[in-house]
Amino acid sequence: MQSFDVVVIGAGAAGMMCAVEAGKRGRSVLVVDHASAPGEKIRISGGGRCNFTNIHASPKNFLSQNPHFCISALSRYTQRNFIGLVERYGIAYHEKTLGQLFCDGSARQIIEMMVEEMRENGAELRLSTAVEDISRTADGFELFVSGSRVACKSLVVACGGKSIPKMGATGFGYEIAAQFGLPVVETRPALVPLTFDANTLQKLTPLAGIAVDADVACGKTSFSEAMLFTHRGISGPSILQISSYWREGDEIAISMLPGSDVAAILREAKRANGRQAVQTVLAAHLPKKLAQAIAERLGFNGNLADLNDTHLKAVDAAVNQWRIKPAGSEGYRTAEVTLGGVDTRSLDQKTMQVKSVPGLFFIGEVVDVTGWLGGYNFQWAWSSGWAAGQAA
Ligand code: FDA
Repeated sequence: MQSFDVVVIGAGAAGMMCAVEAGKRGRSVLVVDHASAPGEKIRISGGGRCNFTNIHASPKNFLSQNPHFCISALSRYTQRNFIGLVERYGIAYHEKTLGQLFCDGSARQIIEMMVEEMRENGAELRLSTAVEDISRTADGFELFVSGSRVACKSLVVACGGKSIPKMGATGFGYEIAAQFGLPVVETRPALVPLTFDANTLQKLTPLAGIAVDADVACGKTSFSEAMLFTHRGISGPSILQISSYWREGDEIAISMLPGSDVAAILREAKRANGRQAVQTVLAAHLPKKLAQAIAERLGFNGNLADLNDTHLKAVDAAVNQWRIKPAGSEGYRTAEVTLGGVDTRSLDQKTMQVKSVPGLFFIGEVVDVTGWLGGYNFQWAWSSGWAAGQAA
């Protein structure tokens, strides 16, 4: 039987960072992954350019039943630390928007960097390797990995969440939590497009492909970013963001011309030329098809001169206070992350170690810490992986 100080399950962002840091401390480290390549989610992230962190990352950009839990790891290994690593490797990057940092070249550069860091620090990587069984021993853990037995003092669970099963996501991390009697906060797809019922879809399908800058709110939370009509419902950054806060039955409020008084714009246009159609005026501010759909929905197909102030205010409401109840979401098939996960009350916030099982650690997405869209989820993976790497 082979013996290691640390075995990490999952060669994603969090697992690789943990392996590097534990290796730096002179620990013997084995990283196992059932996939045939490391960092598959890194590879497809950010449209192939990996939005690897966010300049503005802070605990307020994360959802968790315990919002304070992430503070320690995020402040011990910050976005500046990770940017420093990226710069040391000479990887060119740029800020796209809202503090989001992307590679100029390819996400593969981030994977290559992490693999090289693991190699330099002596961590062994075994791919296409399934973990079949885990048991606790007197001085650590014993695992069956692809038919052979491996012992370790510390076991780090970094197998991510349930999103994109096609890419190898499993609920394995939650199963390990259950095996050791740890509570798991209910999981659900997040950063995911929202869908409409058949009736609504029928009316809105012609708008598929149209994007607008919108304010999207659910309860007290709102985001101002692009929104996209799709063949199933709505998507785009503002919708992905709000999906983490949305629950079945909730209504979302959408403003498609935030900050503009549409009634005032129409009043002015009516004064200038009452023979214009509503949709013509709206089309100067919104995509033409959308302007047309709004006018049609309200039944205002005639001239502005035929509309009174109440009508103009109704147009304003249709544009800026569109309230809609999504029927659901596209689910784990397209969700970027999994909300919920291993309950942080079971973990030590400084080390990510399970309080009741010394030597067992959970890091990254499998933990009940979920970031906003924009590089925050990778930052959590780096920070929590780094924190565990100092202790495992
Ligand atoms: P991650 O899922 O990366 O890694 C888990 C690893 O465990 C995988 O390699 C998997 O194969 C392995 N594994 C799973 N089950 C196993 C088992 N039973 N045995 C062995 N190995 C197992 N975030 C961000 O900040 N910026 C971005 O640009 C994007 N973009 C993005 C795009 C898309 C399409 C998705 C789906 C997600 C994103 N994300 C993102 C989210 C980000 O990818 C995610 O939060 C991190 O990859 C989580 O890192 P982890 O290391 O925790 O899990």
